[in-house]
Amino acid sequence: MRTRMVAGNWKMNMNLQEGVALATELKQRVTNPGCEVVIGTPFIHLTEVSRLLEGSPIRVAAENCADQVKGAYTGEVSAAMVRSTGATYCILGHSERRAYYHETAEILKKKVDLALAEGLRVIFCIGEVKEERESNRQNEVVAAQLEGSLFHLSEEQWKQITLAYEPVWAIGTGLTATPEQAQDMHAYIRSLVAKHYGEQVAEDTTILYGGSCNEKNAAELFANRDVDGGLIGGASLVADKFCAIIAAR
Ligand code: PGA
Repeated sequence: MRTRMVAGNWKMNMNLQEGVALATELKQRVTNPGCEVVIGTPFIHLTEVSRLLEGSPIRVAAENCADQVKGAYTGEVSAAMVRSTGATYCILGHSERRAYYHETAEILKKKVDLALAEGLRVIFCIGEVKEERESNRQNEVVAAQLEGSLFHLSEEQWKQITLAYEPVWAIGTGLTATPEQAQDMHAYIRSLVAKHYGEQVAEDTTILYGGSCNEKNAAELFANRDVDGGLIGGASLVADKFCAIIAAR
């Protein structure tokens, strides 16, 4: 059975007190969700938010981890450190990390391996930029991202991966992919997974949609056969909106 999921990605928003306040409200409101609920928070929130959410169905994700195990990497946070906070997920490959911090497929492959080795589940983001969509290259871009960072994984490891298709032109822009564009790409991604791991594994793989997904369009996106939930940026910062998206799943 495929896991349905709504995951928030707070990005670099909210100080510790604000983050704790939002997590506290979510804990009160999200008591019996019909899907897996995850919140991705900045590193500094992880420990306190994980503690606060003990006994709650909400899981906690880091938004990144280092590409090295440990040592002299000033300012970095390792996968083992993330795990030690109580977080159980790590978001990797977000387009903002790729674009602003030059994370290549090779670097992301290392991060995936390290996160999995620490027992973290990985929400791995893939997606094309506007020019690639305009020149109809979205399929090859996404295939290369999977090939470059994930398809070396064993079938056992693959079970720890959730994919998030996030067309970069839709992130934070208010321009959502149409339900048809999302469904087409999700079905294509699932076909690539089937080629590498077989039909059953592909059927069981959770593929989220991300990019201006909100309380108004979530139900329409989630209604598609291959759209298993959402990775939510802006709308995950407002409890009412995030809860409405969870209810739509
Ligand atoms: P958005 O961000 O919902 O604000 O577009 C999504 C994401 O970057 O994960």
